[in-house]
Amino acid sequence: MLKIEQLDVKERSGRYLLKDISMEIPAGRVIGLTGKSGSGKTTLLRSILGMLHTSCHIDAGKILLDDIDLSHLSRKSHRELCGKKLGFIPQNPMTAFDSRLKIGYQMRETFVNRLHLNTSEATDLAKEKLVSVNLKDTDRILGAYPSELSGGMLQRVAAAILLGMSPDYVLADEPTAALDEENRDLLLLIMQEQMKDKGILFVSHDVAALKNLCQNVYVLGAGKIIEHGTMDKLLSSPQTDWMKQFSALSHRESRGEWKWEKL
Ligand SMILES: Nc1ncnc2c1ncn2[C@@H]1O[C@H](COP(=O)(O)OP(=O)(O)O)[C@@H](O)[C@H]1O
Ligand SMILES: [Mg+2]
Repeated sequence: MLKIEQLDVKERSGRYLLKDISMEIPAGRVIGLTGKSGSGKTTLLRSILGMLHTSCHIDAGKILLDDIDLSHLSRKSHRELCGKKLGFIPQNPMTAFDSRLKIGYQMRETFVNRLHLNTSEATDLAKEKLVSVNLKDTDRILGAYPSELSGGMLQRVAAAILLGMSPDYVLADEPTAALDEENRDLLLLIMQEQMKDKGILFVSHDVAALKNLCQNVYVLGAGKIIEHGTMDKLLSSPQTDWMKQFSALSHRESRGEWKWEKL
């Protein structure tokens, strides 16, 4: 279980970026996180991953990963857990890769260093996981530079690395926002089928995905949890202005007018 208890995160000036955040992410569950842009969703993921900017810090509360409190770990030991226990799917996969190195080198290095495999085992694992995310032309992918692949393909390579690392918990920051429909559906299917046993914190504005994947959804507003429940309940009886707007817009989605960016 990944458990967050009364977490406060402050910026250097003393401003709260997150205030009194509590949530539970059990293994085998997908927990949704939504809310207005700037409400603190990415800051929460960064706090869990030990990747807060140096101008921000955890001021109070706990982040318990299978009963180990991460909030007091050094940045270094915190980040060592990433990959082993915690995995991350970014919104823009381009930022996760080094543009100067081929995909194959980056996948192999990750598996060799993190999983202590030899080069040939690492290559086999890379190929196996690329096939599992429907990138079947593995030699071409491994030989490509990041700039030679589309955003959707890179997001799938990022998912393949994650599947190879097989962390217990996955934090996904609007992972489908930049994808076309086909890649979006594929990524959601990968999360649903190949990450079944993991605890997933899924940041999204995708109503259908939040409805289909998440048992429970938290809504952030200005650094606080302002609402939570099943997506169906949040949409049918929204309590806050933001959720009322989100719900109203979501009903228009079927007519092709859906624009969450307006929120
Ligand atoms: N490096 C930073 N230093 C100080 N404040 C930041 C930093 N990054 C983000 N913030 C602030 O934290 C708040 C939450 O941002 P963020 O977590 O990115 O929101 P979201 O992901 O929900 O859009 C915003 O007010 C933003 O200006
Ligand atoms: Mg964000």
